[in-house]
Amino acid sequence: MNKPEFDKFADEYNQVLGETIPDALNEDVYFAEYKIALMASRLKGKKITRILDFGCGAGRSLQFMKNYFPDSEIWGYDVSPESLKVASSQLPEALLFSDWSTLGDIQFDAIIAANVFHHITVAERLPALVLCRKSLSAEGQMFMFEHNPYNPMTRWIFERCPFDTDAEMLNLSTALDLARKAGYASEQHSYTLFFPKQLAFLRKLEPWLKRLPLGAQYYVQMAG
Ligand SMILES: C[S@@+](CC[C@H](N)C(=O)[O-])C[C@H]1O[C@@H](n2cnc3c(N)ncnc32)[C@H](O)[C@@H]1O
Repeated sequence: MNKPEFDKFADEYNQVLGETIPDALNEDVYFAEYKIALMASRLKGKKITRILDFGCGAGRSLQFMKNYFPDSEIWGYDVSPESLKVASSQLPEALLFSDWSTLGDIQFDAIIAANVFHHITVAERLPALVLCRKSLSAEGQMFMFEHNPYNPMTRWIFERCPFDTDAEMLNLSTALDLARKAGYASEQHSYTLFFPKQLAFLRKLEPWLKRLPLGAQYYVQMAG
């Protein structure tokens, strides 16, 4: 669980990602923002005092978290200290840490893990998800966003991405099984990212497609 293998990609994380995704499909900002926008809409009306980006990496989501949750404390955790240095430049006020044991009794009203669990070894995924559950407040919500291995374009990019050589994608049913085993009392889920930017006008239809296993990613929202 403590392998900081992303240290070596920290400085050029965004550049490598940009080079891996074909130009016709790449929407750097949209890919980072849509997860936070979706999470914000799912949490509408809830008081979010403290929010954690679990596996925040180079901090691509942090500024969006600040924009969508302006009154919340923004925290970021990652096993890669070098990535945290880059993340700190994205949002200097974010509270970043790489040693979970320093957290003490701090609890979060929301935690997001965006494209992190496929980098955690199969054996370490359940303990990581339990760790998140134990750090949620009573009404706290956990969001896991992951690549959908059934989407051919996702597979194509995954197989070419230098970050992903040691990674292993998990499908939605594996993620749901993990959520249950980790002790979450309830979950909701949906496939996402069905349309490339050329068909962006169709994205408003995505909520009706949520059960169709063709989106490039999916999320699982867990509570309890
Ligand atoms: C593909 S990057 C995603 C970074 C960020 N969430 C984003 O959306 O840009 C995966 C990140 O997960 C981190 N990571 C891997 N194993 C982890 C673990 N057990 N706990 C926390 N972070 C981990 C890596 O260091 C890396 O920064």
